[in-house]
Amino acid sequence: MLKPEYTPAVDAPSAPARSYRVITYGCQMNAHDSERIAGLLDQAGYVALPAHEHTEIGPADVVVFNTCAVRENADNRLYGNLGRMATFKKEHPGMQIAVGGCMAQKDRDLIVSKAPWVDVVFGTNNVGSLPILLERARIEQASQVEITEALQTFPSNLPTHRELDYAAWVSISVGCNNTCTYCIVPALRGKETDRRPGDILAEIQMLVDQGVQEITLLGQNVNTYGVEFGDRGAFAKLLRACGDITGLERVRFTSPHPAAFTDDVIEAMAETPNVMHQLHMPLQSGSDHVLRAMRRSYRSERFHGILERVRAAMPDAAISTDIIVGFPGETDEDFEQTLQAVRRSRFTNAYTFQYSIRPGTPAGEMANQVPHDVVQERYERLVAVQDEISWEENKLLLGANVEVMFTTGDGRKDQATDRISGRARDNRLVHVRVPSDPADRPRPGDIGEVTITYAAPHHLVADSPIRNLRRTRGGDAWQAHQDQPDVTSRAVGLGIPALAPRSR
Ligand code: SAH
Ligand code: SF4
Ligand code: F3S
Repeated sequence: MLKPEYTPAVDAPSAPARSYRVITYGCQMNAHDSERIAGLLDQAGYVALPAHEHTEIGPADVVVFNTCAVRENADNRLYGNLGRMATFKKEHPGMQIAVGGCMAQKDRDLIVSKAPWVDVVFGTNNVGSLPILLERARIEQASQVEITEALQTFPSNLPTHRELDYAAWVSISVGCNNTCTYCIVPALRGKETDRRPGDILAEIQMLVDQGVQEITLLGQNVNTYGVEFGDRGAFAKLLRACGDITGLERVRFTSPHPAAFTDDVIEAMAETPNVMHQLHMPLQSGSDHVLRAMRRSYRSERFHGILERVRAAMPDAAISTDIIVGFPGETDEDFEQTLQAVRRSRFTNAYTFQYSIRPGTPAGEMANQVPHDVVQERYERLVAVQDEISWEENKLLLGANVEVMFTTGDGRKDQATDRISGRARDNRLVHVRVPSDPADRPRPGDIGEVTITYAAPHHLVADSPIRNLRRTRGGDAWQAHQDQPDVTSRAVGLGIPALAPRSR
């Protein structure tokens, strides 16, 4: 019999467990994929470094970068970080580096040719292979690259190491069938694949059973959910079905698309008490000419019509947006129209981006690119206008009573100010003054009512006493997690209950 030349460290009972950190960039879908990466590594016997280490570049036995490629600065950042990792690797023999996510899907072999010290490159459809690829890289002492075009298994079927005990992301679809001319996402995430409503609801029920009180439904374009199985009303039905889940306090979703956003969704939001009156509705540009060049099929009037109908049904709705400044061919007049649209829309906040050329996209080939100094100047004006509006909108809440669900927040700052952060029902960030006795303080996941005493452009403060503080199941789940030293194994669950029933 052949003697194995190599015994994998993670399988050897006496070997100390190998540590890992996952550094995440990009959107919520990527953050949720990182929970799966962590779940897979937990299952393979690796041990997560403490949560705050996952936001810092540093050594571990395995360091995974889950990357984003939506704008060019992401590219530069990845290669800069990989350069720093080369130094750590020299100082830590046996350390492995893996690169996954959208940059991996985009650059493929280029990553190992630019940074040969990278051990594993895995695509957006290959998350499930990571442990095997790490193992193979160790045995063969050679970099492994696995990128496939098609999704093999819906990612929710993979084990998940959830970041929070009281709030969770739930994926309803992956990929995007739109062809926005600036956007690289469809090339990296493929066509839309919808998950079956029954699987989604089973996952939500399982999460709620574990103490989760808030879920955010995720998809690149949530309102086209159902195209694959031929039900145009599927998203509104899904929202209403969430309303029937006892113990589920807050339901959010991201992102909808103005072209596909139909009134049945507005009605479902307004009529389902646990669906929050919060909407992220990407405008991108206020100019119809630019929207056409972007191949965004709605026009400005349709966009404002949506906001009006949303506010007619839910006067307290908080609406946020994404805007791109400096799309090729954007004139001063086009930009003025964006400013006008922003003033008219009264967004709670806006994610503003300078247009960035993405290789292979139609807009990247356009001849009329806008000079950087012009883009910069427009961008600063836009941010100033939106900041003013965000502040005015927040000031409208002075004296208002709001329900806050407490979060893990910014520990250090909160400690210094005797405040704990939370989220209002409309997702506004609220810093709440808390009693000095730790026993009287709300835990992350607990829910209370407060009165807003101060408004800043991007947060609110409530120095009023907390009323009707509820010690929730979410807070209990958070507490149990603190009391249990074996955090990692408890945090791993499978998206599909039939595969791995979890008892707690
Ligand atoms: N599917 C989501 C968003 C995905 S990307 C949606 O359509 O809402 C997130 C945001 O990044 C986009 O809304 C857009 O505003 C911005 N973005 C995408 N490609 C970009 C590019 N090439 N340059 C600048 N911003 C871009
Ligand atoms: Fe990109 Fe447009 Fe799809 Fe959003 S809807 S992911 S911006 S192509
Ligand atoms: Fe998300 Fe960035 Fe990819 S925004 S889908 S991680 S390119």
